[in-house]
Amino acid sequence: MEENTTNPELELNKSTVAEEEVFQHVNNPVIGIKPIIKKYLGIPKQADQIGHKFYFTDGEAKVEIVVVTDEIIRVRLAPHGVFLEEFSYGVPKITPKATAFTLFEDDAEFRVSTGVVTCHIRKADFFISFSDADDTITSMDAVPMHWEENVAFGGYYVFCTKECLPREAFFGLGDKPTELNLRGKRFVNWNTDAYSFQWNQDPIYRTIPFYISINEGISHGIFFDNTFKSHFDFGSQEPDKTSFWADGGELQYYYIHGPHMMDVVKNYHKLTGTHPMPPLWALGYHQCRWSYYPEAKVRKIATTFREQNIPCDGIYLDIDYMDGYRCFTWNKKYFPDPKAMISDLAKDGFKTVVIIDPGIRVDDNYWVFKEGKEKRYFCRRSDDYFMEGHVWPGRCQFPDFTNPEVREWWGGLFQGLVDAGVAGVWNDMNEPAVFGTSTFPDDVRHQYDGHRGSHRKAHNVYGMQMVRATYEGLRNIMKNKRPFTITRAGYSGVQRYSSVWTGDNVATWEHLKLGNVQLQRLSMSGIPFCGTDIGGFSGEPDGELFTRWIQLGTFSPFMRAHSAGDTKEREPWSFGDPYTAINRKFIELRYKLLPYLYSTFWEHHRYGFPILRPIVMQEQLESDNYFRQDEFTYGDKILVCPVLEPGQKSRRVYLPTGVWYNFWTLEVVEGGKEVEVQTPLETIPVFIKAGAVIPEYPIQQYVGEKEIEEVKLNIYFADHDANSFFFEDYGETFAYEQDIYSEKKFVTSGTKTSMSIQQSVEGLYTPRYDMYTFTVSGLPFKAKTITADGKAITDFAVNADGLLEFKYSKNFKKIDIAAK
Ligand code: GLC
Repeated sequence: MEENTTNPELELNKSTVAEEEVFQHVNNPVIGIKPIIKKYLGIPKQADQIGHKFYFTDGEAKVEIVVVTDEIIRVRLAPHGVFLEEFSYGVPKITPKATAFTLFEDDAEFRVSTGVVTCHIRKADFFISFSDADDTITSMDAVPMHWEENVAFGGYYVFCTKECLPREAFFGLGDKPTELNLRGKRFVNWNTDAYSFQWNQDPIYRTIPFYISINEGISHGIFFDNTFKSHFDFGSQEPDKTSFWADGGELQYYYIHGPHMMDVVKNYHKLTGTHPMPPLWALGYHQCRWSYYPEAKVRKIATTFREQNIPCDGIYLDIDYMDGYRCFTWNKKYFPDPKAMISDLAKDGFKTVVIIDPGIRVDDNYWVFKEGKEKRYFCRRSDDYFMEGHVWPGRCQFPDFTNPEVREWWGGLFQGLVDAGVAGVWNDMNEPAVFGTSTFPDDVRHQYDGHRGSHRKAHNVYGMQMVRATYEGLRNIMKNKRPFTITRAGYSGVQRYSSVWTGDNVATWEHLKLGNVQLQRLSMSGIPFCGTDIGGFSGEPDGELFTRWIQLGTFSPFMRAHSAGDTKEREPWSFGDPYTAINRKFIELRYKLLPYLYSTFWEHHRYGFPILRPIVMQEQLESDNYFRQDEFTYGDKILVCPVLEPGQKSRRVYLPTGVWYNFWTLEVVEGGKEVEVQTPLETIPVFIKAGAVIPEYPIQQYVGEKEIEEVKLNIYFADHDANSFFFEDYGETFAYEQDIYSEKKFVTSGTKTSMSIQQSVEGLYTPRYDMYTFTVSGLPFKAKTITADGKAITDFAVNADGLLEFKYSKNFKKIDIAAK
């Protein structure tokens, strides 16, 4: 396609829609070379209001401006004045929530204003811009919205081009394997199976058409909710223009106001939803391989974890557990009695997760194929012939997951696996991937929840709808138990149904670096529960690389080691000591910090905060931070900087402003600068924010191994007030939806001679344990008295690490520690 979206010579026709002739070579022997007409919005002549929707027309094209909330405004374009029916997989429902909004008109423009955001529609040329409450323009069209009629498929290519300001930086877009800051780059969204993808390869597995801009400290987001192949250009073709466009569908985008990046992400989650609470065990360590089989091998791996005292919760069965790769079947030679095996594994604390692919083997003796065929659930070509392609099982047909009836059928197919004891489902190859042709041909038809369309429209949501079917099916079957799902492909909103892993990476230091950036990017793009294949899927890591990857994985929301079948064994003990011991220490740390990660997950689920937060999200006024991508915070209290080079003895780490504690040495470091940190193989730089209260569980070999009898609260003294959260519940049911949870808020404050910790509790859940053990780091005075809710605590001491330590009831309201 000719990608020139703007023409500086363009003379806008002021009275009608402007036209520009671009010659395009259509790869079709009949059509050949044809003029393609690019049309631009003309002059807004009329403004109408219907409730929270405003319409502007230039006589032919129509623009709709919807006030969604005080911070979010949606823009839509209908080239011929007719909008499509409201439907989106990304945004399930718009419930307008703006407090007040008004339409103004003067000689120069129309304005739709919420008080927080104003959308300006310029009368001279239909340029659309946005400003904040201080009248600062935050986003502005560089040319009017435009479109191109495409003779090959009879629809429109739709374009939006905005000004790209000299110091503006861009973040988001999901899993793009490139630098965190997207400025100067151009991208395509078309979900693609990208085995051993490379730095800068594009596109790869996911489509998240949402970006966050930051300019002069003010941030806004654009969510281009269009499922067709879409494109983004952040000042790459023309340094002063940012464009996004799609090969079909409507030009529909949400402007999301900040001014903080965190607000943008939270508001994006208001549109697309947050991740449900995962079962607590899913936050533990997972061990995967293509493939562990037969049964004896799976059992051996499991027992070795327990013998080695390396905690592990999830164990995976890749495609070889199936009979000829037929989904929902078992290879009885390798797994003669899956139920017995899974039940034995469960007794030892392992949750079994199985892989499922969308390709269903064409085989009339296979019940899934027979049912799907009889019910016409498989995708068909435009001439009504079946869509067939080769994947693992050979010749396959593929369910149309955009059909709600098919999703329900698919969800029900998991009954047998759940009966056998399976606890989670890994959804793979759902870009959808097809050997040889990469994916489906464009003409394949999809039901698209009643809004029928070709594969051009459904491709990017296919994987999301597959994992949705899986998640909803499991939720039905498992009743009140939380399902665990993982998916490779996805579209914005996939977080409502699944965790995500970054796909087939490679065992290289470059990929470790890439994974670190990809996870931060996924997190800020609305996909909080994400992880990489620890160790690298293809290729062979050495012990050092594997250990450095385990260390990053300890602070990845999803922690799973996985490797391809043609590689050497890849378990945490595979490289011998010192690696095994260090891997064990880090996986144990993961389990100690589980209550902290779980609380952070709750903050995501309830409030829309990301779990991983790049430095730029902490300090967006500091433009140097637009380029930092190694360090991140895990929740808002723990700063992590992985070691990404072999043999590195020390490295530079940037600490945002404030006071930080080195997690390993408890040394107090003033932030707002880079510091040099020692990085022996046993540690990576980890810092805790002063004022934090970090809850800690005892080390368990798996979640639920021990009854938690006491929770440790690690308190890091600060001379100012600070808040921390601690969330707990049953960890595996949906009771939290009925307020059966406990959300504790701690407020700490400190002076040179005193400190206090206050606790308030919300929710109806009561943990079984009675006591907290408190430890206080960095206390600037010697504690003489401790009072809890007015009563003196006499039993306190300085422990072996030099920290003040004491125990008290979990029900305390206020504890005071004083030098007198
Ligand atoms: C794909 C997946 C990989 C899996 C393999 C076999 O390559 O990305 O994780 O192991 O298929 O199922």
